[in-house]
Amino acid sequence: MRREALATYFDSTAKQAWIDLTSDVKVSGIRATVRAGRQTMRDTLVSWLPRDLRRTRVLDAGCGTGALALDVACRGADVTAVDVAGGLVEVAKERATGFIGHGKVRWRAGDMLDPSHGTFAHVVAMDSLIHYSPEDLVDAIEGLSVRTAYSILFTFAPHTRLLGAMHSVGKVFPKSDRSPAIVPVSETELRARLGRLTDWKVGRTQRVSSGFYTSQALELVRRG
Ligand SMILES: C[S@@+](CC[C@H](N)C(=O)[O-])C[C@H]1O[C@@H](n2cnc3c(N)ncnc32)[C@H](O)[C@@H]1O
Repeated sequence: MRREALATYFDSTAKQAWIDLTSDVKVSGIRATVRAGRQTMRDTLVSWLPRDLRRTRVLDAGCGTGALALDVACRGADVTAVDVAGGLVEVAKERATGFIGHGKVRWRAGDMLDPSHGTFAHVVAMDSLIHYSPEDLVDAIEGLSVRTAYSILFTFAPHTRLLGAMHSVGKVFPKSDRSPAIVPVSETELRARLGRLTDWKVGRTQRVSSGFYTSQALELVRRG
């Protein structure tokens, strides 16, 4: 249900805002802080991947308009970029026209959790799991983990007072008026839930806060 709600939201209500946010067009002060924070987050995640990604399969899970997929392809990776919002995937494809890099990107509209995408060395899910409950988030990571050889990099919305309050306020609105809420997750709870992935351990973690953008990256690494 959540996946369907997100597809509708990112393909209609939020589509233009998302296109603007992920481009160079001028945006309001608040959105500019979000854009800057997201750039820092993308750079952080990409820096956690090996420098040389030639002949390496990477999944950009919930690719949106595709910036991370292209960054990773520049390093030589063979990228599969998937998003349930088909309209955003079309934008990503257009933006990639003329891309000259060592790697390549296969753009797919659909569920990033679909096993038919194949197996990967690394999976990156930037801000694509922030709308899911902690249970669903960890179920999604577990599903991806069986098809991943080395690392899974994802972000979650850390449970800060402000996010917690916004989440509660959001619940007051009637369902039809709500955009899919960002679900704040406590790091302690998340680590406890991830404990069931016995072949994996938590590696690096990095919180990025920039104005209205707060997100935390976490690296899961397969035990050697
Ligand atoms: C906040 S946006 C982030 C997009 C992109 N990763 C970025 O950082 O620019 C979240 C994206 O995740 C996608 N998404 C959420 N759940 C998904 C799923 N199960 N399969 C594919 N895409 C999903 C949404 O459609 C949306 O485009």
